[in-house]
Amino acid sequence: MSIIKDDYKESFWKIASEIEKEIEKIENAKNVKEKINEIKKKIETLKSGFLSKKGIIASLLNQLSKLDQQQRKELGKEINEFKQEIESFVKSITEKIEEKEKELKYYTNLDLSVNYTFKEKGHFHILTIVQEELMNVFAELGFEIIDGIEIEDEYHNFEALNIPSDHPARDMWDTFYLQNGILRTHTSNMQIRILEKRKPPIKAISIGKCYRRDNMDATHSFQFHQLEGFSIDEGISFLDLIRTLYKFVGKYFGVNSKVNFVPSYFPFTEPSAEMSVSCFACNQQNSQCSVCKGTGWIEILGCGMINPVVLRNVGIDYEKFSGFAFGMGIERIAMLKYKIPDIRMFFENYLEFNSLWG
Ligand code: PHE
Repeated sequence: MSIIKDDYKESFWKIASEIEKEIEKIENAKNVKEKINEIKKKIETLKSGFLSKKGIIASLLNQLSKLDQQQRKELGKEINEFKQEIESFVKSITEKIEEKEKELKYYTNLDLSVNYTFKEKGHFHILTIVQEELMNVFAELGFEIIDGIEIEDEYHNFEALNIPSDHPARDMWDTFYLQNGILRTHTSNMQIRILEKRKPPIKAISIGKCYRRDNMDATHSFQFHQLEGFSIDEGISFLDLIRTLYKFVGKYFGVNSKVNFVPSYFPFTEPSAEMSVSCFACNQQNSQCSVCKGTGWIEILGCGMINPVVLRNVGIDYEKFSGFAFGMGIERIAMLKYKIPDIRMFFENYLEFNSLWG
């Protein structure tokens, strides 16, 4: 009797564990809905096979009447325990499959065929877009792109660039002072940082944020972005600088843009110049133009031949090597290219403005 019951136990748990495994792997089924129904049927069959009036437990209990009282008591207890095991297994497995069924209903109710377009999808800020465009143009011109740092020391931001502490140019580049340095006033610090590690020939650009103590107005901000570029090798001349910048303007603003250079002064370049491009708004036709103030030109960058003092400061033989450098304001370029009238618009976070370029 007990042996028969043990056989039943074994076969019950065999089927039970198969059902459990099937539930665990239900997600892999080709047709999950069908699989759920199949498992539910199996649970029903197991339940009625063991627990119904004509089921195994009932027939085992029936057979008890043939036994004497002592045996009846012992076996009766065992059979009842088995019955309880079956009942609690059936209960928990039924809950499990119902849970799965609920999940399935949730997922199958998702109608993925609906053609929904997000109204507020994310996109890059216009300054990021312009930076990427500029990087592409300079990459085409053979410049490598090097990351920069914003917290700088006075040596790399000023002294190494030939701006000693008593130099009047310091006023123009006054900045924010931190406990561990200053916020850089231009990306020219990267000329020094890069040349401390690398030796010529080198042709690179570096883009990033800069800070000055400027009050905010339509064309000034205490925080802005610059692109610094430089090229150093044997025999680099002013002509290489002009040629590079012409190519840049042609590629970025269009071949019909005119370019103008005027002499300027920077302690770290000698000779120095400022470059302007012809006004996109009036095409040099409107003496009342608000964008170029009627001059026909818009200044976009400072440039020049790297001062030999700077090369000496980073240990480069300035008799053998020469180089040019230029620095442009990204906001200025973006304002020109995309006709943005006020620099503050970049930073005010008006969604209407930001989404114009989405
Ligand atoms: N660093 C200069 C500025 O911020 C721009 C510049 C860069 C000029 C490189 C010459 C060469 O105004």
